[in-house]
Amino acid sequence: MAAPAQLVSPNAEVVAKSQSLLVNVSAARGLQSVLKSNLGPKGTLKMLVGGAGQIKLTKDGAVLLHEMQIQHPTAMLIARTATAQDDMTGDGTTSVVLLTGELLKMAERHVSEGMHPRVIAEGYDLARDKALEVLDAIKVPIDTKNLDRELLSNVARTTLRTKLQNKVADVMTDSVVDAVLTVRRPDSDQIDLHMIEVMTMEHQLGADSRFVRGLVLDHASRHPDMPKRLTNCHILTCNVSLEYEKSEVASGFYYSNADQREKLIESERKFTDDKVRQVIDFKRMVCKEGESFVMINQKGIDPLSLDMLAKEGIFAARRAKRRNMERISLACGGSAVNCFDDLEASQLGYAGLVYETSLGEENYTFIDEVKNPMSCTMLLKGPNKHTIAQIKDAVRDGLRAVAAVLEDGCVIPGGGAFEVAAAHALDQPEFKTGPAAGKKIFGVRAFAESMLVIPKILAENSGFDVQESVVALQDAFAKGGQPVGLDLVSGAPTDSGANGIWDSYRVKKQYLHLSTVLATQLLLVDEVIKAGKQMGKQAAAPGDDVDM
Ligand SMILES: Nc1ncnc2c1ncn2[C@@H]1O[C@H](COP(=O)(O)OP(=O)(O)OP(=O)(O)O)[C@@H](O)[C@H]1O
Ligand SMILES: [Mg+2]
Repeated sequence: MAAPAQLVSPNAEVVAKSQSLLVNVSAARGLQSVLKSNLGPKGTLKMLVGGAGQIKLTKDGAVLLHEMQIQHPTAMLIARTATAQDDMTGDGTTSVVLLTGELLKMAERHVSEGMHPRVIAEGYDLARDKALEVLDAIKVPIDTKNLDRELLSNVARTTLRTKLQNKVADVMTDSVVDAVLTVRRPDSDQIDLHMIEVMTMEHQLGADSRFVRGLVLDHASRHPDMPKRLTNCHILTCNVSLEYEKSEVASGFYYSNADQREKLIESERKFTDDKVRQVIDFKRMVCKEGESFVMINQKGIDPLSLDMLAKEGIFAARRAKRRNMERISLACGGSAVNCFDDLEASQLGYAGLVYETSLGEENYTFIDEVKNPMSCTMLLKGPNKHTIAQIKDAVRDGLRAVAAVLEDGCVIPGGGAFEVAAAHALDQPEFKTGPAAGKKIFGVRAFAESMLVIPKILAENSGFDVQESVVALQDAFAKGGQPVGLDLVSGAPTDSGANGIWDSYRVKKQYLHLSTVLATQLLLVDEVIKAGKQMGKQAAAPGDDVDM
């Protein structure tokens, strides 16, 4: 019999009923098997090769899903949901794909035996709510007033080690924690990670990356005589042109002899020189012995002005980026000035050290040791582009993981500890005969089984026997009642929290929500119809050529 959609449009391409579930499940499992080898610190890497031969090595689910070419519509839907997880929480992308795939796989067994998908979907919703309760019970609150730095380092380390080699991850751990703590404001719950600038330099090794409690600008002074290294610096940020300007409206200079021309040029020059002199006078006024003066200008400074400033020992950088101007005022204090007429000492910022380095063609200015660092920089180094890209992606995850922990005020033991606890709770007789009684129990059981996909795949990726490891975890949890996760070195159950393996609360919460919603929606799809132009093509559109 034709599928119902074909009665409406005989040419519609339709995948109907049981077939459509099979199509969805196989796509979900396909995506799952692509990503599963990347889960956890022992996961393997994927190499992405671009059309022009660009290479990217990555383990990050979000990067993979963004950059892989995915054609199957269901797989694309899952990939979009998983990247939404990354957009919202910064982590857990791979886990979403794995859990969604597993939920669909489990459901398909029941549906093929004739159960209605709606029954399973109800079971999934119920089980998800129970799992969220477990999540709230298992979370370990942290003291956001007296911060335990070790705990934050552990969170950062857990995330970074899933993406980088241990050595590089450990170097970055402290930097990531420092950076987040630097931009954290005690009076606000939200942490603005945009205040952390991530700068990359193709130079040295990944392990040489570091944290700068200040700023790194990718431009430098433009005069050879200017000092390259200054201490105790007053910083003037300004937006004043110190060069001959081209007028913005059509205008002209008219003169009738050479004398007049000289005069015009002289007065124009004097206009600029006066402004430079104002800065120099100001510098003389504020700088005491052992102090120096740095000027960062958003507009241009012409060579003659630079010369005057250099003679005075002032370090001047021109054409600074607007973004940097804002961050300099935040990091060093002071405020940007638009006019040199009433300069005041309160408008100046302060930095303990300002110095310039050049790498090949590129020049950089470091503004370091600032007093009130509301904005800071992570300087990432690496010998080549793909190493830098890998570190950059990992650092992004690390920053967000630490910020999430501070914002949530709690952590979740990792290594599959939560998943084992949730599966255990769903399997308790009180629950099975209580809220989950009746047909829903099939969905609940399938959900419990699906949760175990995370510890299973962590075990598989570390080379342990999957069943043995998971059963050991479940036994240990049933006996002890305390959360236990998988130790990826020995394969035995362990107290993940005590070993410093922490996940963030919002990541787990979000991944439960997203995976369940997506899996139930795909489960309830009974026809896949190719929509779009094709369907209406038979009816001639106005203006079409009609064959008679
Ligand atoms: N040292 C460790 N020992 C045991 N489990 C770990 C360890 N480090 C991380 N994990 C576990 O690995 C899982 C996270 O792995 P991973 O970061 O590769 O995937 P993801 O967060 O789901 O996706 P992605 O980070 O790619 O967006 C979590 O379940 C976490 O508990
Ligand atoms: Mg992760």
